[in-house]
Amino acid sequence: MSRSAHPAGPRHGDVLPEGHYSAPPSDLNALDPKVWSRTVTRAPDGVVTVGGMDVTRLAEEFGTPAYFLDEEDFRARCRAWRDAFGADADVFYAGKAFLSRAVVRWLHEEGLNLDVCSGGELTTALDAGMPAERIAFHGNNKTPEEIERAVAAGVGHIVLDSFQEIVRVAHIADRLGTRQRVQIRVTVGVEAHTHEFIATAHEDQKFGIALAGGEAAEAVRRALKLDGLELVGIHSHIGSQIFDTAGFEVAARRVVSLLAEIRDEHGVELPEIDLGGGLGIAYTSADDPREPHEIAQGLHDIVTRECAAAGLAVPRISVEPGRAIVGPTAFTLYEVGTIKPLEGLRTYVSVDGGMSDNIRTALYDAEYSVALVSRSSDAEPMLARVVGKHCESGDIVVRDAFLPADLAVGDLIAVPATGAYCRSMASNYNHALRPPVVAVREGAGRVIVRRETEEDLLRLDVG
Ligand code: LLP
Repeated sequence: MSRSAHPAGPRHGDVLPEGHYSAPPSDLNALDPKVWSRTVTRAPDGVVTVGGMDVTRLAEEFGTPAYFLDEEDFRARCRAWRDAFGADADVFYAGKAFLSRAVVRWLHEEGLNLDVCSGGELTTALDAGMPAERIAFHGNNKTPEEIERAVAAGVGHIVLDSFQEIVRVAHIADRLGTRQRVQIRVTVGVEAHTHEFIATAHEDQKFGIALAGGEAAEAVRRALKLDGLELVGIHSHIGSQIFDTAGFEVAARRVVSLLAEIRDEHGVELPEIDLGGGLGIAYTSADDPREPHEIAQGLHDIVTRECAAAGLAVPRISVEPGRAIVGPTAFTLYEVGTIKPLEGLRTYVSVDGGMSDNIRTALYDAEYSVALVSRSSDAEPMLARVVGKHCESGDIVVRDAFLPADLAVGDLIAVPATGAYCRSMASNYNHALRPPVVAVREGAGRVIVRRETEEDLLRLDVG
């Protein structure tokens, strides 16, 4: 690794340009446990370690860019969710955040269920041995072929997302001579405080059936009439990366009042409610996420209270955290390739990945943290923008962050909290090769999703 001195952009004490950042942290070598996974520490020699492995060895063995997933942390988070909700509730991990066969096995071993939203996720789940009855199948436009596979496999429930799907699933179940357990996804009309693209409970959007105007009640009426369906519950998912639990409470209240309406109209008490996922995590030290036990207690209290008021038995509650389980468990490791200081502005630090391994900054204006991890440094903080190697200027990984001013080509930097929606939304833009996911535990790394190769690209290109 070559280390060359270079002129830096703005330093501590300079007047800084406009941006999303606060003051530079007092210690650039510190690793905030809110944003780094449980086993990450900086060793006395300055090198950061995860699961007992130092990042320079990980980079040598597995290359960069790569996602390193702290398996112990992942398992601990599964247990925290499962224990917080207890035996009367179910936790479904949302596979869209990140799914692989190893992850499915860990979920199974830790007693979680799994929410899938495509044929591909369903295949991965079944292939890795998740019992079908512990799988829920989601999606606003499942194909008849996907529905048929899910019904034939015997998934625990299918979440019906539209009037067309009520009929579609019923017909397929009839044809297969079975009765499919289903929930109906409703939009409760809550404005969740999150990015527009990941808010899902207001009515003007593609998901679910609106409570407003009696649409959801009509969907229930139709579903109850069909022999192929066993309607077991109501589902609500209000959005993603949400910190304020008020939205979940309003959703819980509205879902329980629908249960009461159903009881009054049909004499049926549906036994389940699913309140979806969406709990926010800390991407930077400014974020303050809730712990699973606080969320569980809050939801349990509100459902119990509302059911008592309506004279209903308390239904079985389920939740579907994706990001809150896997998000904090991984970081992306990059090597610094070029450094471009802009006097009075900022220093552009180009890494060997970019928007192909983390599209979230470009897509949602997401904020991330970053740290120099292959050594410590006592240099002044320098305002940096971490960018990728793709052919567009929106290719930003971390918009505004402080890195030490002696940062050099060949240094390794890591972006924490990239376990959710980074590998799962990775692309081949510019024919980039999607990075591997390496599970690290007890001093060893194990590839769970291998790095793509140029042969993989050529194999798909059959022209
Ligand atoms: N359940 C349902 C029905 C969902 O649609 C989702 C996420 C979840 C659970 C899990 O939500 P989580 O706990 O992970 O927030 N790509 C975006 C997030 C899209 C979320 C889509 N649905 C991002 O990178 O922020």
